[in-house]
Amino acid sequence: MKAKLWFLSILFILVLALVGCSGGGDDSSSEDTSSDEGTSENNEGESDEVVKLTYARGQDSTQASEKLIEEFNKQHPNIQVELREMPSDTGQQHDAYVTQLNAESAEIDVMDLDVVWPAEFAQAGYVLELDRFIQRDGIEMDKYNQGAVSAANFNGKQWAMPKFIDAGMLFYRTDIIGEDQVPQTWDELIESAKANKGAEGTEFGYLMQAKQYEGLVCNAVEFIASYGGQILDESGEVVVNSPEAIKGISKLVEVATSDFVPGNINTFTEVESHTAFIEGQSPYIRNWPYQWNLANDENESEIVGNVGVAPLPEGDAGSAAALGGWMSAINKYSEHKEEAWEFVKFMTGPEGQKISAIYGGLAPTLPELFEDQEILDANPFFKEEGFQNALDAAVSRPVAPNYPEVSEILQINLSKAIAGELSPEEAAAAMEEQLKNVMQ
Ligand code: GLC
Repeated sequence: MKAKLWFLSILFILVLALVGCSGGGDDSSSEDTSSDEGTSENNEGESDEVVKLTYARGQDSTQASEKLIEEFNKQHPNIQVELREMPSDTGQQHDAYVTQLNAESAEIDVMDLDVVWPAEFAQAGYVLELDRFIQRDGIEMDKYNQGAVSAANFNGKQWAMPKFIDAGMLFYRTDIIGEDQVPQTWDELIESAKANKGAEGTEFGYLMQAKQYEGLVCNAVEFIASYGGQILDESGEVVVNSPEAIKGISKLVEVATSDFVPGNINTFTEVESHTAFIEGQSPYIRNWPYQWNLANDENESEIVGNVGVAPLPEGDAGSAAALGGWMSAINKYSEHKEEAWEFVKFMTGPEGQKISAIYGGLAPTLPELFEDQEILDANPFFKEEGFQNALDAAVSRPVAPNYPEVSEILQINLSKAIAGELSPEEAAAAMEEQLKNVMQ
């Protein structure tokens, strides 16, 4: 009897200790993965049910997401991923996630994060810290593009896995612009866009993204950097009110208010601009690498086989591409974290990135994939020096946990400059003053 009592009390203590370990306490992310919560495995490790995962990302104009999910589901019969398409405007997408995650919703398991969000999402506690999965499964982070890795690293921890990298590029119609006529400078682009507006049935000369949203910030970063300006300097000081940045803003305004862009260019995001381009409405477009794949998609495009790619034109200081890209993260409130990680691992690993590159024209964050022949056959410009240089030298947007505030200041003042409500000088001065107030 005594022995039984002793056994029971030991058991009791053990149970208490286990409860203390896995539950309660603070809600820090490192505890979320310590138990097996959310997996469908029974005690013998055999799966007895199919786990449904919801994967959210912006609207996909290519076949990449469909192919990724199809392949993953085929390889994982016990996990079935469903796609939830979110607004393609990255700011609207951001706000939709923030609303859900603030409400601690478990509806979405995996989501793609824009390169400018991880610090904010990590600090707000929306996403799961991934280091323990990365270490457990031996993922070699040094094989990834280090810029992309560090964009998803905050406070020394990894919050998302780099999925693809973006850099702004100039796409042109090879049936209108000869290879030796590709403009080298912004002034040459302006001349050529004017001269070729109307050629081969085009309506415009140039397409860009000038709506008041994140894409406008990317276009502006490119103009500003190509004239030698910066928004923040290397030590994080706000330096946007400089003669160089003002030159860049002036050139952006000159292009966006010209008569060779659509009259409603201030409503254009990537979707409006790529649609006009693949419908054959312009000899030039500034866009991200996916544009190539889409423009050569027989089912979507009227300009298949007539597309060339070049670095963006130079200002006084050279050519500059904005650094963009997306990374995959796990909702901290997901009820299927283990399965969510399996999907993230697949999507951002070599096999998943290859599917995204071939079917979506997305540039891999695993540099070794730039040697893959099938990827190069689908995206011949990936091997070009100009493209690799653009990736290497791509200019980051300011890194800040309150990035949405920073971006809003830039967006509002740039839009006012395009609308003629502020001169480029006034816009730069306003941005500098307002940014200084919110930079943490
Ligand atoms: C692309 C980029 C992203 C950027 C967005 C702006 O999706 O990858 O980083 O914020 O465009 O529209």
